[in-house]
Amino acid sequence: MEDHSRIEDLFNALIEAVAADAYAQAATLWVECERGLSWHLDTEDELLLPRLLSDRPRDARAILAEHRHLRLRLAEFGGGLSRPKLESARAFVAELRAHTRHEEKVLYHWVDERLPSDELDAILEVVRLRSGAKPPDRSA
Ligand SMILES: [Fe+2]
Ligand SMILES: [Fe+2]
Repeated sequence: MEDHSRIEDLFNALIEAVAADAYAQAATLWVECERGLSWHLDTEDELLLPRLLSDRPRDARAILAEHRHLRLRLAEFGGGLSRPKLESARAFVAELRAHTRHEEKVLYHWVDERLPSDELDAILEVVRLRSGAKPPDRSA
C-alpha cells in the first residue's frame, strides 16, 4: 500500500520527460502516473477509509476530501501533460506530497496503532490479489 514515493517518483519522471520534450516517454509515464495514482486512491478509499471513518470520522472525511481534490486535479490535465502545464504539474506534485505527509501522520499512524492485525492482514491480502490486476509497474 505504501507506494507513495513510487508514485511521486513517477510524476517527477513525467515532468522531466515533458521538460526534455521526450514525448513518447512522457506519454508512457502519464499512463503509469494516472493509473498508479488512481489505483492507489481507490484502494485506500475502499479498503482503509471505511475503517477509519467508523473510528475517526473527521480524520477520514478530511482524507476523502483530499482524494477527491487530487482526482479533480489529475482530471484537469486532460489525459496528458504538456509544456504549458508543467508549472501546474509541479504544484500538483507538491500537493501530492502534502497529502502523503498528512496521510502518513493520520491514516497510516492509525493503521499501526489501532487496526487489528487480522484486519490488516486481510486488507493486505486483498491488495496482493488485486495487484495482479494493477496496471503494469515496470519501473518497480
Ligand atoms: Fe491517499
Ligand atoms: Fe496514500
